[in-house]
Amino acid sequence: MNCSYLTVLILSNNTLHGQILFSSIFNLRNLKILRLAQNNLTRVIPNALANSSKLLIMDIGYNHISGQIPGWMGDLGLFKIIMPNNHIEGPIPKEFCSSGLSSVLGVLDLSMNNISGTLPSCLVLSNINHIHLSENRLRGPIPNSLCRNIFLETLDLSHNQLSGSVPSCLGNSSLLFLRYLVLKHNNLEGEIPNQLCQLKTLSLIDLSHNNLSSAIPLCLNVTAYEEAIVKIDYNSINPFGISFHTLPGWFATDESIELTTKNTSYSYKGRILVYLSGIDLSSNKLTGKIPPEMGNFHTIIMMNLSHNSLSGAIPPSLSKLGKIESLDLSYNNLSGSIPRELVELNFLAYFNVSYNNLSGKPPPRTAQFATDFDENSYWGNPLLCGKPLPKNCSKSIEEPSSSNPTKDDQEEDGGFMDIESFFQTFGVSYTVVLLGIAAVLYINPYWRRAWFYFIQRLITTCFYIFCH
Ligand SMILES: *[C@@H]1O[C@H](CO)[C@@H](O)[C@H](O)[C@H]1NC(C)=O
Ligand SMILES: *[C@@H]1O[C@H](CO)[C@@H](O)[C@H](O)[C@H]1NC(C)=O
Ligand SMILES: *[C@@H]1O[C@H](CO)[C@@H](O)[C@H](O)[C@H]1NC(C)=O
Ligand SMILES: *[C@@H]1O[C@H](CO)[C@@H](O)[C@H](O)[C@H]1NC(C)=O
Ligand SMILES: *[C@@H]1O[C@H](CO)[C@@H](O)[C@H](O)[C@H]1NC(C)=O
Ligand SMILES: *[C@@H]1O[C@H](CO)[C@@H](O)[C@H](O)[C@H]1NC(C)=O
Ligand SMILES: *[C@@H]1O[C@H](CO)[C@@H](O)[C@H](O)[C@H]1NC(C)=O
Ligand SMILES: *[C@@H]1O[C@H](CO)[C@@H](O)[C@H](O)[C@H]1NC(C)=O
Ligand SMILES: *[C@@H]1O[C@H](CO)[C@@H](O)[C@H](O)[C@H]1NC(C)=O
Ligand SMILES: *[C@@H]1O[C@H](CO)[C@@H](O)[C@H](O)[C@H]1NC(C)=O
Ligand SMILES: *[C@@H]1O[C@H](CO)[C@@H](O)[C@H](O)[C@H]1NC(C)=O
Ligand SMILES: *[C@@H]1O[C@H](CO)[C@@H](O)[C@H](O)[C@H]1NC(C)=O
Repeated sequence: MNCSYLTVLILSNNTLHGQILFSSIFNLRNLKILRLAQNNLTRVIPNALANSSKLLIMDIGYNHISGQIPGWMGDLGLFKIIMPNNHIEGPIPKEFCSSGLSSVLGVLDLSMNNISGTLPSCLVLSNINHIHLSENRLRGPIPNSLCRNIFLETLDLSHNQLSGSVPSCLGNSSLLFLRYLVLKHNNLEGEIPNQLCQLKTLSLIDLSHNNLSSAIPLCLNVTAYEEAIVKIDYNSINPFGISFHTLPGWFATDESIELTTKNTSYSYKGRILVYLSGIDLSSNKLTGKIPPEMGNFHTIIMMNLSHNSLSGAIPPSLSKLGKIESLDLSYNNLSGSIPRELVELNFLAYFNVSYNNLSGKPPPRTAQFATDFDENSYWGNPLLCGKPLPKNCSKSIEEPSSSNPTKDDQEEDGGFMDIESFFQTFGVSYTVVLLGIAAVLYINPYWRRAWFYFIQRLITTCFYIFCH
């Protein structure tokens, strides 16, 4: 009650339940950090916090808090607003555009709530690094004003009902640090803007489950963190001293990013994000070819282009994706043969080219392809043949020579089986013919006489030839 000098209150990860009872007699005027995450708290955000004008970090995620976001939060100089996984509803308040908040806010995490309305076009946050608004009920277009958040590193607007196009201004050179662009599960349409190629630091681009219909830009560059470290003067952009700021390259453990790889969705947070790199454009209406330039994404760990209308051949350059673990090209209209070079992908754990129009033989059964990928990786390509598919290739497709010893063994096995059945058949036929001749000679006396005469002549002839 009288803790007027209290600056830090951390009660996260307990089993506290019920309402947060900060009434106006609580004097938390000096409170800077409030963390109540992972409890069982209910009801609304207490208005008494409006008097905590020095509050910097407000973390009430993973509770059952309901009600709307109070407008007074826009007047505080909050640096981190972390309230994921609650039942907060209503729009993002206009007050968030006010100068009090907009000049300092670095992290805004309202994901997994019930936020509705549009993204306010006044929301220009000059210091923001991470915006997480996934799994809400936001509608309408993505406003161009977002592109003016020049320190933006993470933009996660996935699982909403956003419409319109992917703003081409995202590629403006003003977004120097944008690294995780996650817009999956919305109703975005139109093309993937070529301007995204100007994002020099992109590590993850996930535009899956939208209605995008262009070709994939040839000039995209997706690269894991370590390769793209940007030199900036941290002090010039950090108003509070380094300990409060999530600067580009700092991996706070407050926010996580979800990625679907190897057919499973995982959440990543903290330093592991350094390795999180990939491209997911699945479940759209993309056309055209897979750009061979995508082989230059040397550091990505996943690529999912499935459920589109991509055509043409699989570029052999994909064999340069040396770190890739998950490659899904299923449900497209790809043709031609699967490049043999793909056996060079030593970390590949998931591979799927099902339901295309591929032909010829799958890659040779060596390295990852020796055991990991069976016919499940190749369904629905009627023109594919050869191991591990049940369909054998016609001679014209069969390779002239094979260095694969297991294949030779199997062929020898097959030959041995044939000889055994040959002997059986031969034995039976031989007996039948002998019995047949004996029966004929027994029944017909004329043929019997002829037969004995023939044998006698034969013996005589042999006698003359061999003994004289
Ligand atoms: C708290 O402060 C009020 C008024 O400032 C005072 O009356 C009360 O005794 C204080 N309570 C404690 C526990 O110090
Ligand atoms: C919360 O507490 C549980 C049990 O003590 C522990 O296993 C878990 O790691 C904690 N979570 C966090 C985020 O601290
Ligand atoms: C949280 O509260 C709900 C009901 O409000 C209860 O069913 C649940 O067991 C509580 N969980 C914990 C960890 O206290
Ligand atoms: C803020 O504090 C003043 C007194 O210092 C009090 O009168 C007022 O009710 C408080 N406001 C809220 C919203 O608690
Ligand atoms: C979101 O709001 C709608 C209507 O306002 C309600 O039916 C639904 O249960 C809410 N969902 C959550 C997760 O709070
Ligand atoms: C996708 O776009 C087409 C027109 O290009 C439209 O007919 C269709 O309804 C859209 N689908 C969704 C799910 O938005
Ligand atoms: C992609 O980005 C990396 C790191 O910024 C850079 O080294 C590489 O040259 C770029 N590749 C292309 C094709 O622009
Ligand atoms: C690729 O995306 C599709 C649809 O978006 C999904 O069903 C599939 O599981 C993903 N593949 C992998 C390997 O994660
Ligand atoms: C991929 O995920 C889907 C849906 O989660 C599941 O039905 C399917 O069996 C999974 N496939 C594999 C190979 O694990
Ligand atoms: C697939 O590609 C062929 C040509 O290679 C084309 O004729 C056909 O229309 C395409 N199918 C789809 C569904 O795009
Ligand atoms: C599949 O490819 C073959 C040529 O490789 C072509 O003749 C055929 O029309 C294609 N089928 C479809 C459905 O695109
Ligand atoms: C590849 O995708 C097809 C179609 O979704 C699925 O039936 C098959 O199980 C997948 N293969 C693997 C290895 O997951």
